Amino acid sequence: MPAERIDGVAIAARVRATVAADAAALKAARGVTPGLTVVLVGDDPASAVYVASKEKACKEAGMNGETIRLAASTPEAELLAVIDRLNADATVHGILVQMPVPKHIDAQKVIRRIDPRKDVDGFHPVNAGKVLIGDADGFAPCTPAGVQVMLVESGVDTAGKEAVILGRSTIVGKPMAALLIQSGKGADCTVTICHSRTKDLKAHTRRADILIAAIGKPEMVTADMVKPGAVVIDVGINRVDDPTAKKGYRIVGDVQYDTVREVASKITPVPGGVGPMTIAMLLANTVRAARLSVGA
Ligand code: GUN
Repeated sequence: MPAERIDGVAIAARVRATVAADAAALKAARGVTPGLTVVLVGDDPASAVYVASKEKACKEAGMNGETIRLAASTPEAELLAVIDRLNADATVHGILVQMPVPKHIDAQKVIRRIDPRKDVDGFHPVNAGKVLIGDADGFAPCTPAGVQVMLVESGVDTAGKEAVILGRSTIVGKPMAALLIQSGKGADCTVTICHSRTKDLKAHTRRADILIAAIGKPEMVTADMVKPGAVVIDVGINRVDDPTAKKGYRIVGDVQYDTVREVASKITPVPGGVGPMTIAMLLANTVRAARLSVGA
């Protein structure tokens, strides 16, 4: 029997509805409208699309969403001064500097300048540390946080399960492991992280009850690598050439969906899986930042 498809669009819509209700409640109780400010440096077309969708999602949830657009030539000091101003602005609860930033700007320096209480991306080392120690005050990066919500919402019992993560990135792989090893709902897993130097990758992936692919290699995970009945979460978003498609390319994940779905018990599609969860979690983090800012 083919795997059940985990519908990221539907789960993200539920998260966004909860966020909208929470935002309205905070406004009614404390007169505070949660606000996210996105800073975009340069004119990368893909980043411009992401940023526009973040602003739109904020407004749809009844939140303030502002974008500050800076020229690609903006000096690093000027960007840091913008962050200082946003850190000091009580109406701004979440700050996100869209990555990548131009090469003359040190991304780590920028991330570290953001007040960790406003770091709704969960990229600041303080938040990385809080996520690792299981401090509920911290902000987890939106993509792994979204994966965890998907596991819970689709009824996956994670306790005691073998979770294997493909990819050790700071934004997905490492925080994903940190979330899954905590005790509690959507966690309590035994976690393995595999990466480019891992030996006998298949031996690891075949042990996984929950397999999370975040390596950025189109359709790398094939059916023979998957344990029958496993839950497969595909974080990959890869462009592959496709002359038959209108745009000349199509988007595929890190998992070969059509074959793996014959082996897995549940699987996320690409698109329509993890992707929509990322913005939903960004909104959720921003509302929480707003709530924490007034001690609510
Ligand atoms: N660029 C692509 N995705 C993201 C994200 O989630 N956060 C930031 N800051 N930049 C990105």
